Amino acid sequence: MRHISRRGFISASGAALGALPLVRSIDALAQVTNPVFRHGVASGDPLTDRVILWTRVTPPAGAVAQSVSWELARDERFTRVVTRGELQTGAARDFTVKVDAVGLEPGSIYYYRFQANKAQSPIGRTKTLPANNVSRVRLGVVSCANLPQGYFNAYSCLANHDVDAVLHLGDYFYEYPNKQYGDGTALGRIPAPDKEIISLQEYRERHAQYKADPDSQEIHARHPFIVTWDDHEFANNTWWGGAENHTPATEGDWTIRRAAAVQSYYEWMPIREDLQTLTPRIYRTFRFGDLATLFMLDTRLVGRDQEVDRTDLAALASPSRSLLGKAQENWLAGEFAESVRNNTTWNVLGQQVMFAHQAAPGTAIPNADVWDGYQASRERVFDMIEQLKVNNLAVLTGDIHSSWAYDLPRRPFDGYDKKSGKGSLGVELAGTSISSPSNIGVGPDGAKQLAGYVAARPHLHYVDGRYRGYFILDLTRQRLQADFYAVATVQERSTKERFEKGFITESGRNHLIEASKPA
Ligand SMILES: [Fe+2]
Repeated sequence: MRHISRRGFISASGAALGALPLVRSIDALAQVTNPVFRHGVASGDPLTDRVILWTRVTPPAGAVAQSVSWELARDERFTRVVTRGELQTGAARDFTVKVDAVGLEPGSIYYYRFQANKAQSPIGRTKTLPANNVSRVRLGVVSCANLPQGYFNAYSCLANHDVDAVLHLGDYFYEYPNKQYGDGTALGRIPAPDKEIISLQEYRERHAQYKADPDSQEIHARHPFIVTWDDHEFANNTWWGGAENHTPATEGDWTIRRAAAVQSYYEWMPIREDLQTLTPRIYRTFRFGDLATLFMLDTRLVGRDQEVDRTDLAALASPSRSLLGKAQENWLAGEFAESVRNNTTWNVLGQQVMFAHQAAPGTAIPNADVWDGYQASRERVFDMIEQLKVNNLAVLTGDIHSSWAYDLPRRPFDGYDKKSGKGSLGVELAGTSISSPSNIGVGPDGAKQLAGYVAARPHLHYVDGRYRGYFILDLTRQRLQADFYAVATVQERSTKERFEKGFITESGRNHLIEASKPA
């Protein structure tokens, strides 16, 4: 195993830390930097009057309980403290700490920190949702961070952009041992524990390792997160009753593994908890005044039926198969209706898998894990859009490790004209990954391959799998713009990035055109 390079360490953490000894892994690095709060701080699920604050205390050996105090202020020096408190955590929740700080002002920036065992946490910055007369919203959109395959440079790059919140669309981590999906040996990024995670303790350890990553700590301390899970927070290609990467005969009961993954997720992620933690309902709504409603979906766990073969046309179209499940579908229809009643300008779906048609209906599809594999479910969402007259739909997608920009006509292969955009009901933007690889457009014939995709799909404007990064969604009354940013490398720590591509749709058009510069 190679050590984290001294140069990368200093450039990211500041020269003041240069005197510290070389450390063997990212977890050891965090231990040296702040032994009590080695997993950093985070905030999430902002509402107009409250936000979740998160940290984790590393307790003295043998401790079963731990008291922690926290405070939240208007300023970074904590001269104007707004609210504070004290609470107990303990082994039952893996010494993670979660506070719902209430009584806050809308659209406001706050700073927070924790104290325990005479140590002080890093300072976090967060922001509440705006309430009235919202003229602009900016959201960072990320997905798919795989530790052994590279550094999370995209996180530290996005930390330095001005955004209201970061949406994490899932694959916050991966469940594999080293060398099963990427080899982290050369970078000193070996998954911990180095095995496929199955038990509660193993899921917790994997969460702890990712939260010790310095780039992850930087973005969590800088912006509130709004998260949803994809499959790898559980196991590859999760559905409600199992997963491709789960073998009951050797790995035990799926419901036990699933409960362990859910419990550790709620412990370690800055998400508001409800009474259903073990029968999890992660789908929920965020309102940015009447400028935008954000619907965060769960296309993985609560309602997804098992995948079928990508050539089984009858099963792919079967009305009895679902991606969301009945309860979530009903919820979504109700939430759409309310957003329409409120005259909301933009209706944004934050979700996991590609929504747009990848192939003409009635033909074999390239990938049955996405909405193409659940065609009746997609038809029911299109029905809602048409019947409820949902304006300006924007579907945001993770999972696919490549960047895509689609219009969303209901029948794209029946003469849709991507120049006029006539008949489109929305747009879809899919982000690339933080570090997980893609082979789309890679290799000597890459450019030709990408052009081939765009030529073959009447509603596709753009695809590229050759860079890692994220995108920023920028909303005003007049237009939506999505700006794709590419990091220079994930093979060493770096804050180099470039604006790669941007797309705009004007309000009322549901039709993407290329932007000449970032919003
Ligand atoms: Fe992924």
